[in-house]
Order: sequence, then C-alpha cells, then structure tokens
Amino acid sequence: MKLTSSALGAVGASVLLATGAGAIDVDVTSTDSIKNAAKLAAAGMTKWYTGYRPGDVAGNLPDPYYWWECGAMFNGLIDYWYYTGDSQYNNITAQGLEHQIGDYNAFMPQNQSKSLGNDDQAFWGMAAMSAAENKLPDLGDDQPSWLGLAQAVFNTQAERWNDKKCGGGLNWQIYSFNKGFNYRNTISNGCFFNIAARLYKYTKNETYMDWAEKVWDWELSVKLFDLQDGGYHFYDGADENINCTEVNHIQWTYNAGVHLAGAAAMFNATSSDEWKTRLSTVIKGLDVFFKDGVMYEVACETGGTCNTDQRSFKAYLSRNMGYSMVTAPFTQDLLKEKLTTSAAAGAKQCTTSGDEATCGLKWTNNGQNDGSVGVGENMAVMEALQNLLFASVSGPVTEAAGGISKADPNAGAGATTTTVVFDEVTAGDKAGAGILTTIVLVAIVAGAWWMVA
Ligand SMILES: *[C@@H]1O[C@H](CO)[C@@H](O)[C@H](O)[C@H]1NC(C)=O
Ligand SMILES: *[C@@H]1O[C@H](CO)[C@@H](O)[C@H](O)[C@H]1NC(C)=O
Ligand SMILES: *[C@@H]1O[C@H](CO)[C@@H](O)[C@H](O)[C@H]1NC(C)=O
Ligand SMILES: *[C@@H]1O[C@H](CO)[C@@H](O)[C@H](O)[C@H]1NC(C)=O
Ligand SMILES: *[C@@H]1O[C@H](CO)[C@@H](O)[C@H](O)[C@H]1NC(C)=O
Repeated sequence: MKLTSSALGAVGASVLLATGAGAIDVDVTSTDSIKNAAKLAAAGMTKWYTGYRPGDVAGNLPDPYYWWECGAMFNGLIDYWYYTGDSQYNNITAQGLEHQIGDYNAFMPQNQSKSLGNDDQAFWGMAAMSAAENKLPDLGDDQPSWLGLAQAVFNTQAERWNDKKCGGGLNWQIYSFNKGFNYRNTISNGCFFNIAARLYKYTKNETYMDWAEKVWDWELSVKLFDLQDGGYHFYDGADENINCTEVNHIQWTYNAGVHLAGAAAMFNATSSDEWKTRLSTVIKGLDVFFKDGVMYEVACETGGTCNTDQRSFKAYLSRNMGYSMVTAPFTQDLLKEKLTTSAAAGAKQCTTSGDEATCGLKWTNNGQNDGSVGVGENMAVMEALQNLLFASVSGPVTEAAGGISKADPNAGAGATTTTVVFDEVTAGDKAGAGILTTIVLVAIVAGAWWMVA
C-alpha cells in the first residue's frame, strides 16, 4: 500500500481544560433541553471556523482539517437548523457551500485537486443533498440548486465507476496521480451509494435506484462488507493491484453510517422487504461500535490513535441513525436507546464555558473530558444530541412531496472529460490525501479482537 505514516501525522489539539467548568447538562427527555445542549455544542464547533471573515476562505477550516471536513460540518449545521429551528448558522453554511462549488458545479475546486478523493467530494455532495431534503432555500442568482449539486456529484462519480479491476467500484482518488488511487475504499463507494439512494428517494428516477443496487451488490461481492454474527460489518477497503482479493478489515463508524442511511432511503422509497432486511442487518452489525451502550470509535479510541479525520466519524454514524429513524420509523426501536445513551454520555464529558461547550473525544470516559478537542469532537456530540429530535421533524421532502430545490439531471457534465492542469505530485510530496483511511494503522492494531479476519 502506498500511503506513508507521514500522511497520518495530523496531530490533534490537546489542551488542558480549566477545571471547575460545568458539563453540558442535558435532560434527554426534554426537547428544549436537547436543543440547548446541541446549541452549546454547535457554538463550540463553529468557533474553529473563520471562513466567513473578510480575507479568509469561505468553506475552509484551518489546519489540520482537510477540506472535506468543512463540508461535513456544514451538513451537520444544516441538520442542526432542521432539528432545532435555530437558523443562526444558515448564512455561513450557504456561503461556505457556494464558495466551494468549483468549476463544474460539482464540488471539485481546482485548488483542492491534490487531495480530492471521491469521498471528499461526496461529503460536500451529501451536504447539498441534506440541504435539498431539508428545504434550505436554494442559493438563487444563477447558482446551481442544492439538488443539482448532489446530482452533479452523482453524475461525475457514476462516470468514474471502474470495472477494469475488481469487477467494478470507485477508486478512492479522483485523479490517478494522487496517492491512494489504487485503493478501493468503502467510504467512497458507500457515500456514492448513499447519494444514489437519497436521489432515488427524492426524484424517483430509477437510474439512481439501479446505481444504488449496483454499488451495494458490488461492495458485497468483493466483501467490503459482509455478514458476521447476523449483522453487516463494513470494512475499510481493498487494493485493486491485487484485484480486491484482500480486504483491510478495520471497521469505522462512518462506513456503517453512510450505508445505514442509504439503506433506509432505499427502504423508504421502495417499501420492499429486501431493503427492510438489509437495513435491519446493517443495524445488527452496529454493536461493534458500542461499549456499555455508548458509541465509540472501536478502531482507534481506546488506543488513543484517532487522527483528525477519525475524531469526527461518530458524527456521521449519529447523523445517519437519525436519518434512519426518520425515514424508516420501524428502526426507532432498534436505534433510539443506543443514540440516547450515547448522546447523554457524549454531552456529559463536554466542558461548558459561557454559551459554548468544548467536547472531548471519548464518550465512554465517565463524564471526563479527555482533552482531545476540535471540530470533529464537537460535531459528533452535536449530531448525537440533535438527532434525538428525530420525532419532531416531518422528514426529508421529495420532488413529489414538498421539495423546492430544482432538479438538474445532467449537472456536472464535462467534469470528467476535461483535463485539469496542475503541478505533478512528485515522489517527495506527502500524500495530501483527503480522508486518510488507515492502511498504516493496520500495523498498530493488527490482532485486535474486532478485526474479523
Ligand atoms: C449570520 O447570521 C447571524 C444571525 O442569524 C448573525 O448573528 C451573524 O453575524 C451572521 N454572520 C455573518 C458572517 O454574517
Ligand atoms: C481556492 O480557489 C478559490 C476560488 O478560486 C479561492 O477563492 C480560494 O481562496 C482558494 N482557496 C485556497 C485555500 O487557496
Ligand atoms: C477480478 O475480480 C473480479 C470481481 O471479483 C472478477 O470478476 C475478475 O475475474 C477478477 N480478475 C482477475 C484477473 O482475476
Ligand atoms: C418514509 O419517510 C417518511 C418520513 O419522511 C415516513 O413518514 C414514512 O413512514 C416512511 N416510509 C416508510 C415505508 O417507512
Ligand atoms: C434520470 O437520471 C439520469 C441519470 O442522471 C438522467 O440521464 C435522466 O435524464 C433522468 N431522467 C429524468 C426523467 O429526469
């Protein structure tokens, strides 16, 4: 594998927190209390974002955050507004998304090319999808619509489907000169599945359904996920140089999360027993991510090796548990308690100061903030809290029922055929890889019990 550990060197901000500050005090049975708690977490998260300031770049977080995480954060803020009704961040959200649209209206800004993976692009695409589903007003002024942006991401990725090796699948990277191109990672394929499924639910255009089925079947065929103990377990990826015959079995919350929501969307749109079973089976596999009922990042949290990207992953499992409970109400019995216990534990370890909270990484820490703080840590707690409000929303709109974002089925055209010119990445360059899946961590955690061989 080609990634070097230097690429994983993003060091977390570790700060000593003032003692004596309070924890987020949340009553998980009270809507107002949950909203208040989510508000504190949102305020703590956005304090790291300065892109709206004059002279700063909208839609970018400062180092050490990669570009994708800002898109993920905006997705969190769109949902924050949707669940809590607090619109105070809608202006910076719309501004940030607009600024990163890029040349083909497909979230492929040229100056992110060196780290632009399909997964990175997709996190922005999923934010646009959420904006359409939640009826965030379109940008207007000749800008593409939210739905059109999600369709553009879908169209550009469908073009990249690569059956020269492995019988299909998306490569991790968009550009073959980027390190990690040969890796077929589960998150890239899972996000593509997620967007296809939600576009199908939204538009009822069967092309999207066909793609969602195709990605799901392909991932299963090369065992990017498989059935273990009655549940689906989602792994990290496989190398096309060996035709995907070996799979890296590390399990991350976000891989399960994006598939969970995609399966829920497919179930909602089809009402089929097949998708109901698949969705239930995804949920059965989630136990690996819970310790005493509390969510944790099993691959890195206990060992303290979670990198900056990974410290945000619990946000995407929480987000998609909420999405599942809204769009597939039968899953509430399976997910509600897990999310409630996790949100309460997550909130308890945050440290409040005035009207914001600073959260640590470990929710299993008996209410102690572990001092690993940042955008990801706060986003994860915010998502766990706000998604507890699933019962108070009417659910994602569709084209036929309430949707206001304009469709553009051919959005993103030209993006894959036009050659973008930029500096060659030289051998000496560090992998500027977007979402670093953890090939390197294999060495660190090999033999851990949860790595199903
Ligand atoms: C965004 O709107 C909020 C009020 O909703 C306001 O307090 C804030 O200053 C605005 N931010 C920017 C950057 O305009
Ligand atoms: C990337 O390009 C955009 C649009 O040309 C520009 O506004 C922005 O400042 C650039 N971002 C960075 C991080 O250089
Ligand atoms: C590569 O894997 C695909 C899918 O599993 C399979 O159909 C194909 O025959 C394999 N190719 C080679 C050369 O083994
Ligand atoms: C689809 O989602 C809506 C909420 O958005 C929900 O009311 C409906 O019951 C769901 N359909 C199915 C089949 O679960
Ligand atoms: C359905 O989606 C496909 C793929 O994007 C597109 O080519 C086609 O025009 C769409 N059909 C309709 C009726 O919008």
